[in-house]
Amino acid sequence: MNTDLKSKILALKKEKNAVIFAHNYQRAEVQEVADFVGDSFNLAQRGIETDADIIVFCGVSFMAETAKILTPKKKVLLPSLGAVCPMAAMIDVTRVLELKKAHPNAAVVCYVNTTADVKALCDICCTSANAVKIVNSLPQDEVIMVPDKNLADYVQIHTKKRIIPAEGFCYVHSKIFPLAVESAKSAHPQAEVLLHPECPPETLKLADKVLSTAGMLNHVLKSDRREFIIGTEEGMLEVLTSHAPDKVFYGVGGQCIQQKKVNLERVYECLRDEKNEITVDPQVAAGALKAITKMLKAGRND
Ligand code: 13P
Ligand code: SF4
Repeated sequence: MNTDLKSKILALKKEKNAVIFAHNYQRAEVQEVADFVGDSFNLAQRGIETDADIIVFCGVSFMAETAKILTPKKKVLLPSLGAVCPMAAMIDVTRVLELKKAHPNAAVVCYVNTTADVKALCDICCTSANAVKIVNSLPQDEVIMVPDKNLADYVQIHTKKRIIPAEGFCYVHSKIFPLAVESAKSAHPQAEVLLHPECPPETLKLADKVLSTAGMLNHVLKSDRREFIIGTEEGMLEVLTSHAPDKVFYGVGGQCIQQKKVNLERVYECLRDEKNEITVDPQVAAGALKAITKMLKAGRND
């Protein structure tokens, strides 16, 4: 059945001049039909580079929205409309305006895990691949960071600027507690600890490296170490194992249910019927585009 679905999807891609993009946390079956698998930063960049007419975005809604903002002439489809990042829903326009009013001299940096209307109110976007670099590139001494409190706390350690955090968190990464990393370390003392910056600050203290998901993959491929403790969503373990089958990975993260809402059946139906098209209000998109473009120009730091 899956082989049948896969070949139907591949045929539809050709027929419709479509590409499939998948985030690193997507199911293996979805990654197998994807033209590109990556982290939020690389997926945004790839959207601009493709000359396809349709992008089927296998990830959560803010990622598809970002692709639509960057390539408004393309049809961007999201296989599951229920795939919404709960952290992105933890900040809205009202809260950003409150923070701006309370700190009028501060720059506003929004994590890419936000809705387009929030991005439109911010000076610049960031992802887990470049948050420190983005903040340090700004002229202001004070920086409001929304929505992830853990990412903001991590950046605070790496900047002289004063970071004003919002209250958001990722329910997957915020549950990666020090105890899980400590137990993995004592069971596998040779392993290098790679953690995502959405983990709590007390957990990040135990990291050898703090990296985005694509940063983890790049690091593993370059490293001469053989064992790694991986502190991010569990789907990343499959990505790492498939790219580095001779290395061993010990996961300490749980599952993001929203990312797993996308499956092969939904990808097929979405592309076949060209349904679940993402639209963004043009005025909002224009504001958000500025923040995203500035971020892409700044590049990655991992
Ligand atoms: P990355 O950009 O590191 O892939 O992270 C996205 C995300 O949603 C992390 O939970
Ligand atoms: Fe959002 Fe966390 Fe899921 Fe990433 S892992 S999409 S931040 S809920």
